[in-house]
Amino acid sequence: MCGIVGYTGPENPKDIIMSGLKSLEYRGYDSAGVAILHQGQFKRVRAEGKLTHLAQKLDKESFDGHVGIGHTRWATHGEPNETNAHPHKVGPISIVHNGIIENYAELKSELQQQGAVFESETDSELVAHLIYQKNQNEGMSLFDSVLSILPELTGAYSILAVSEKRPEEMVAFKNGPPLILGASGGAVVVASDLQAIMPITKDVVYLEDDEVAFIEKGQVQFYSKNGEALDKATVHIDWSPEQVEKQGYAHFMLKEIFEQPRAVANALEPHIDLNSHTVRLKNVGFSVDGFDQLDQINIEEDFKKTDEVFKSVERIFIVACGTSYYAGMVGEYLIEQMAGIPVEVDVASEFRYRHTIIPENSLVIVISQSGETADTLAALRQVKKLNSVKVLSICNVKRSTIDREAHGHLYMNAGVEIGVASTKAFVSTLSLMNLVAMSLAKAKNNLDVVTENKYVEQLLAVPSQMEKVLAYDKFFKSAADTLKNFKGFLYMGRGINFPIALEGALKLKELAYMHAEGYAAGEMKHGPLALIDSQMAIVMLVPQDALYEKTVSNLEEAKARGGVVISIGSGEDEKLKKLSRHYLSLPEAGWTTNPLLEVLPLQLLAYHVANSLEYDVDQPRNLAKSVTVE
Ligand code: M6R
Repeated sequence: MCGIVGYTGPENPKDIIMSGLKSLEYRGYDSAGVAILHQGQFKRVRAEGKLTHLAQKLDKESFDGHVGIGHTRWATHGEPNETNAHPHKVGPISIVHNGIIENYAELKSELQQQGAVFESETDSELVAHLIYQKNQNEGMSLFDSVLSILPELTGAYSILAVSEKRPEEMVAFKNGPPLILGASGGAVVVASDLQAIMPITKDVVYLEDDEVAFIEKGQVQFYSKNGEALDKATVHIDWSPEQVEKQGYAHFMLKEIFEQPRAVANALEPHIDLNSHTVRLKNVGFSVDGFDQLDQINIEEDFKKTDEVFKSVERIFIVACGTSYYAGMVGEYLIEQMAGIPVEVDVASEFRYRHTIIPENSLVIVISQSGETADTLAALRQVKKLNSVKVLSICNVKRSTIDREAHGHLYMNAGVEIGVASTKAFVSTLSLMNLVAMSLAKAKNNLDVVTENKYVEQLLAVPSQMEKVLAYDKFFKSAADTLKNFKGFLYMGRGINFPIALEGALKLKELAYMHAEGYAAGEMKHGPLALIDSQMAIVMLVPQDALYEKTVSNLEEAKARGGVVISIGSGEDEKLKKLSRHYLSLPEAGWTTNPLLEVLPLQLLAYHVANSLEYDVDQPRNLAKSVTVE
């Protein structure tokens, strides 16, 4: 939820930490701070609000040391103000923290009884106090102090600590949110995400839970929480810097909306045979024992193993949050109709606490763009305790925690998604859900080759169809000033289009802070109809599919109550044109691919309305890209 960067090396830490924080700002942007060595002490500079506020303050500061830590915050405990901003400093100790210390209140009150004075309302400051006690009062080294406090901490955390007593050292430790280290040419960078490390090195080491990294003089040593030395593998990352640049677009989100044709093509590419127009999920990894063996996979054996797993599946659970959850709902329609396997879709925060009954021969699919979402990860870990159940992850960030811990792995291949509102990861996931549904259907002998060919051809047509749909950018740009005056938006669809209505409403809420509801169109008369008047915009998804006539009837009901209808349908639909204030025509597609096209105008609508309201489209208020706390 927050972003951490630490640096030690020959360069100026201020510049490296600030550019690292800039690349991590998507993780949290309500306050930021650094502590950088200067004249033997860690000088702390912090600011409320966006990173630019901190940058302005830092313009006036210089540092003579070569070690520093930095943090960009998404507040959990305590308001987003300067006092609560990280780093937290107690005596010679400074720390930055991402996550939540769940037992902080009791530990804090014990320390207060012993005379400790807390300056902030955060849970994080406690960690600085605990380390201080050991380092200052009991004379332990920074490293030993960290080891000795680990048993006391409950919760999810990744932490980086420094001490003025031995300022050339840093200690990183984690249980939960990611921490990655890169070392090159006498420099070491520690960060919450790869973006902040890539300018220094492409060879990185992922710190695992309950591990500690000790950094000194450009070298890193890894230890278990009990202090045993560990030998850890370095991973080379393929990365191009332009992936994290706007490339002329006004916002990352707009760039990412326009990248969707490529994202779909990249998601499909590994798994489709372009000669036979058939599907085979490649390198899923069910055949090997553990993530680290994925490199040695035997492709044919893995195909066989995936097929075997799919053949045995009697029930499917899909677990995710937010936009990924809506992608899972689309998956439910696809899998049930194509493969005839019962599917349950759950929001991860509910799934993990509702004592879900998961029978043997179930497959659990977890979806997460970031691969770090705390609730989804907890659900995965819960399921993994049941030995009879396989977990298949669908992630965008390779080697993320969810990816590493699942039995089987599929990749969105959407490229880095910076905008907090998810767009391209969503359509990539819908593409993969199509492939998973078809593969399950094939394993269950429910899909003949003619239908398989048709579905594949419809999928392959999506990227170029999307290019046409993106022309609605101009329409929403010019309509945004009118649209922003509606008091609310009701998004409706039926069947597989219903989750797209939910996703459209979520996009408008998170970007334009407007009241928007997604509804199954057939449910409208059970309540939401009361909302409709001339101030309410109705966005109706009405593609040519089996439920077309029924959805048109729902549209007429909304129109009869005075709602202003924007309908989204297939091709030249005269009926919809007559019934709607605006009719948006999508290319004719199949029932399985309509959702991939329908979501694009909804993303553009939300983007342009938010932009015309002058809201921060890439970093909407109160949100963060990667939700690593409950
Ligand atoms: O990284 P994940 O896919 O697990 O994230 C799940 C949600 O937090 C995410 O989709 C969120 O709803 C986005 N802000 C939606 O735009």
